[in-house]
Amino acid sequence: MSRNSPSQSGVFHSTVDSRVEKFTESISFDHRLYAQDIRGSIAHAEMLADVGVLTSEEAAQITTALALIKGEIENGDFQFDEKLEDVHMNIESALVDRLGDVGRKLHTGRSRNDQVSTDARLWIRDSIDETDRLLKQLQIAFVGRCDADMDIILPAYTHMQRAQPVLAPHYWLAYTEKFQRDRERLADCRRRVNVCSLGTAALAGTTIPIDRENVAKRLGFEGVAANSIDVSSDRDFLVEYAFVLTMIAEHLSVWADEWVLWSSVEFKFIQVPQQFCTGSSIMPQKINPDVCELIRGKTARVIGNLQSLLVLIKGLPLAYNRDLQEDKERLFDSVDTVHRSLDLTASIVEGATLNTESINSRLEDGFLDATTLMEYLIGKGTPQRTAHHQIGSLVGKAMEKRCRLAELPIEDFTAVNDSLDKSVYDVLGVERAVAAFRSYGSTSPDMVKKQVVRWKEQLELS
Ligand code: ARG
Repeated sequence: MSRNSPSQSGVFHSTVDSRVEKFTESISFDHRLYAQDIRGSIAHAEMLADVGVLTSEEAAQITTALALIKGEIENGDFQFDEKLEDVHMNIESALVDRLGDVGRKLHTGRSRNDQVSTDARLWIRDSIDETDRLLKQLQIAFVGRCDADMDIILPAYTHMQRAQPVLAPHYWLAYTEKFQRDRERLADCRRRVNVCSLGTAALAGTTIPIDRENVAKRLGFEGVAANSIDVSSDRDFLVEYAFVLTMIAEHLSVWADEWVLWSSVEFKFIQVPQQFCTGSSIMPQKINPDVCELIRGKTARVIGNLQSLLVLIKGLPLAYNRDLQEDKERLFDSVDTVHRSLDLTASIVEGATLNTESINSRLEDGFLDATTLMEYLIGKGTPQRTAHHQIGSLVGKAMEKRCRLAELPIEDFTAVNDSLDKSVYDVLGVERAVAAFRSYGSTSPDMVKKQVVRWKEQLELS
């Protein structure tokens, strides 16, 4: 009987249905694992020679041929074939074409199940390093703005209502902190990714006297997975990375949404560089922040990918199941989306300008100094609840008179609390309110400056 797929052994006595090939192939997307697949195969072949399963001559032939195949793929001279199903079979088949029986020995003591897990771990390890580089680049963009924006005060919001005044760098460092936590999550996830699965074979291990430590060392893995059934079924490391990417996308979406708002005529806080905006086909005046909108919008697919992965592995029986092939497109899509978003965000953050005139013209609106005034009163011995109520009534009075707290006459202050005197004007107004902060982590100018110094050191900028 004819065989129509390299994965079909002599046990088959009929060819598979013509639709199966297209349905089951993964080469159209897993070709992205080619470099990791070849790296893993070279390490495996060298180990097989070390333990005497291959001669060193055979291993040398294999590694030379694999290096040539890699070169061909990189030059665009290699034809991936859907009939060969996946990246592993495509590369192995090219090896057999070149070396015949020597090529047929490479798969000794391994299976595609441990092979695909190893490839994915190697790929993700590199990808994590790139995610970290892009996160750092973005942190540098935020920290890089801090000195120039140090004197700019912005309103900060709760419930999307004006709450308290903050220094612009306090905002920039808020994002820097969020992306730092993402970097920490990445580093933690990397430890679990960086474990060697090769040599667990299909699911039970192998009778061939392989040396898994040897392979792990060659591939730069920090450890060797201890249970073959676990490894064969495990995609935790991949889902974890997809989760970290999702948190990054969530953080980016918050930033993007904020800057979309801030660039509107209503806010007019910020100008997104025109290189990252597009126009409208009908309204000639439009300069739309499309890149920010799409960074916000693309978060949806990153969340969707994580959801798909979680559903994919739910209730899947041990050990390997073909379902797991569905992990790669979701992974690649999240990586591509988040990496592009991070890179663009860094450029936007770097190039944006704060509209100080417009910000300042409305900065005294919204009673941003009310809480500072309340705390001033607490300092004079009034209990917090009482002070809260009394300042509330002063704000009510200012609203009535359509003026700011600083514009109320001293009689209005002494009427609500006789411990108030003219020194009250020293804490009123947004600029004084900012200067009055003192707690650790607050927007106090001294504190913010110290944080900028700390971040510059941490990011090796000074
Ligand atoms: N393409 C498969 C995947 O991505 C590789 C492993 C296939 N193993 C198998 N026994 N069919 O999961």
